[in-house]
Amino acid sequence: MPLESGGGVGFNAAMGSVGMPKGSKSVPGAGRRQQTANVLVIHGPNLNLLGEREPEIYGRTTLADIDRQLRELGDELGVTVETFQSNSEGAIVDRIQQARGKAGALLINPAGYTHTSVAIRDAVQALAVPVIEVHLSNVYRREPFRHHSTLADVAHGRIMGFGADSYLLALRAAAGLLQSAAK
Ligand code: DQA
Repeated sequence: MPLESGGGVGFNAAMGSVGMPKGSKSVPGAGRRQQTANVLVIHGPNLNLLGEREPEIYGRTTLADIDRQLRELGDELGVTVETFQSNSEGAIVDRIQQARGKAGALLINPAGYTHTSVAIRDAVQALAVPVIEVHLSNVYRREPFRHHSTLADVAHGRIMGFGADSYLLALRAAAGLLQSAAK
């Protein structure tokens, strides 16, 4: 079963229409619209085991903790964070497709699929919003097969090696991109 969660309501009056959910309401107030930018976070296979799985590499923070921290930071930054985890490549492709026209940015840790998946790369390209590739570990300090990423050249940027903080750094980067795009 994929794990999915939607964040609380984010708000940033300075944000533009990027990543606005369909049906968002405009709120009167000093001539400005109340708007929410959506950031989708996707976690790939085996990341549901975070906290238990090879903690010497991935740390002891669970996926539920990461998702909670992301939603809290999203509230601070004025973006709505939705998270999704799946062990299945097709489910990840489906979730990326569903985000078309809804998400303003995507953070994705494709985990093992990073190194193999043309299908996830194609879905990311079709999404046509800034994508930040995230990894807990620094893949370049690990086995050579982890050095290749099918996303590296289509991602806006890549953040890795900071454990669970990689996601939080990536969310700050995404919020910055959304804010610049709205100016
Ligand atoms: C990972 C690195 C991948 O090589 C690995 O298959 C993972 C996690 C990371 O976050 O460090 O599952 O994406």
